[in-house]
Amino acid sequence: MKQVKPYKNKPGDKKAQVKEMFDNISPKYDFLNRLLSMGIDRGWRNKLIDLMKPYQPKNILDIATGTGDLAILEAIQLSPEKVIGLDISEGMLKVAKEKVLEKKLEHIIELITGDAENIPYENDTFDAITVAFGVRNFENLKQGLKEMNRVLKPGGIALILEFSQPEQTPFKQAYGIYSKYILPFIGKIISGDQSAYSYLPESISVFPYGEKMKQILMESGFSQVNIYPLTFGISTIYLAKK
Ligand SMILES: C[S@@+](CC[C@H](N)C(=O)[O-])C[C@H]1O[C@@H](n2cnc3c(N)ncnc32)[C@H](O)[C@@H]1O
Repeated sequence: MKQVKPYKNKPGDKKAQVKEMFDNISPKYDFLNRLLSMGIDRGWRNKLIDLMKPYQPKNILDIATGTGDLAILEAIQLSPEKVIGLDISEGMLKVAKEKVLEKKLEHIIELITGDAENIPYENDTFDAITVAFGVRNFENLKQGLKEMNRVLKPGGIALILEFSQPEQTPFKQAYGIYSKYILPFIGKIISGDQSAYSYLPESISVFPYGEKMKQILMESGFSQVNIYPLTFGISTIYLAKK
């Protein structure tokens, strides 16, 4: 898999650049998310929650929690005992903390700074792990997936929501134009970060999806993987069992 970094002309490994980029865009992240996805991202997160409901997880880890939207939905809709939101960007976590306090969920949600490729928990800790739009940003995808598998309890579930690529005409062409021209243009103007919203479509274009992603999940230790394509294949949820 080709590695795409946010700032092509700057030194530094992907992880450091990803952290820098999310620290930069954190104040505008939620607004841009709603605008650029035209609100569809909310429906995708809700679908992920629906898939989790039958498992009634009590102890959840939300990796790459960002500004905390998924962790907050989990705390409200799944009645868990604990949700840990882990992220590498302190800027994103600062926004998440404000939202958690505002919703009075601080007794359920704990936010911690950490790296998905070196998760600071013991083996077999969590009933469920979620990652929304996070795995594409990992420096080493397999290392991150193996870490998720390690900290899941046997029989536990991992749910990954990530961008994929529509394959059918005319959605493929329409999405191509939107992601290559419109999205970077709006993203650049509003976020003020020249590169962040060019990195988004570039990183999507090289990222594995569908059967290829399933194969990588199986190679990372998961025993069963179900694939749920969303909105013409713009995004996909993978439900993987340990
Ligand atoms: C696109 S945002 C997604 C945030 C949130 N999950 C959502 O659905 O809006 C990606 C997040 O992944 C985090 N991230 C990227 N690489 C990471 C890593 N190695 N460990 C932990 N977090 C990481 C970034 O800091 C950023 O907050």
